[in-house]
Amino acid sequence: MIFFIDSANLKEIQTANNLGIINGVTTNPTLMAKEGFANKNAMFDHYQKICDIVVGDVSAEVISTKFKDIVEEGRELSEINKKIVVKVPITEDGLKAINYFSKKNIKTNCTLVFSSLQALLAAQAGATYISPFMGRIDDWKQKKLSSFQVVSDIKTIFKNYHFSTKILSASIRQPEHIIESAKIGVDVATASLKLLCSLIKHPLTDAGIQTFIQDYTNSQSN
Ligand code: E4P
Repeated sequence: MIFFIDSANLKEIQTANNLGIINGVTTNPTLMAKEGFANKNAMFDHYQKICDIVVGDVSAEVISTKFKDIVEEGRELSEINKKIVVKVPITEDGLKAINYFSKKNIKTNCTLVFSSLQALLAAQAGATYISPFMGRIDDWKQKKLSSFQVVSDIKTIFKNYHFSTKILSASIRQPEHIIESAKIGVDVATASLKLLCSLIKHPLTDAGIQTFIQDYTNSQSN
C-alpha cells in the first residue's frame, strides 16, 4: 500500500514529500477552496505546482454535474499535467464520463463511494481509482456495514473479477482506518499531514531516545 496526502496546501504536500512517505496527492473542492483562488488560471497553476512536488498521481475534482460539462472540465484538468487524475463523484453522468475518459486514456478517481456496489459499477465503467470514504461511512448513523466491511467487500469483488481499478481508501480519520486498509490489501490510503505524522510517533520511541541520550551523556561525563 502506498500513501497519498489528502491536501491542497503546498507546504503540507512538500513536508510530506520530504519525509519520503507519500507518492501522490488527493484534493477535493473543499480543500482547494481553503487555498483561495482568484480565478481558474490561478487554480490550474496551483495544480501544476502540486504536480511539480510529487512523483505520483494528483487527483483534481470536477465541479460539473452534467455529462458534457464533466467531460469538458475533466479534459481541461487532464491537460494541466500527465499526473492529473480526474476525480468524478459517482452519479449516472459521472459514470458515463468515467467511461468516456477511460476510452480516451484519461485517468479517473471515482469519488464519494460508500458501498461495494458503487465500487463495482465504477470499476465496470473503467475507473482508474475508486475512493471509499471510510470516515464518512463510519460516521453515518444509518450504516449497516462498517468501513472495514465495505472496503473488504470491494477488495473481494475486484479480486474475483480481476478488475485493475485501484482501491484508494479516503476520508481516513484514525490510524485504525490505515491498519484495516493495509490488512485488506488496498492499493492507496490518503490522509492529512497531521494523521500521517501521528503514525510516526510512539511513546516508547520517545522514551527510548531519551534513555539512549541520557546513558550516552552519563558515560561521557564519567
Ligand atoms: C479524498 O479523496 C477525499 O476528498 C477526502 O479524504 C475526504 O475526507 P473527509 O471525509 O475528511 O472530508
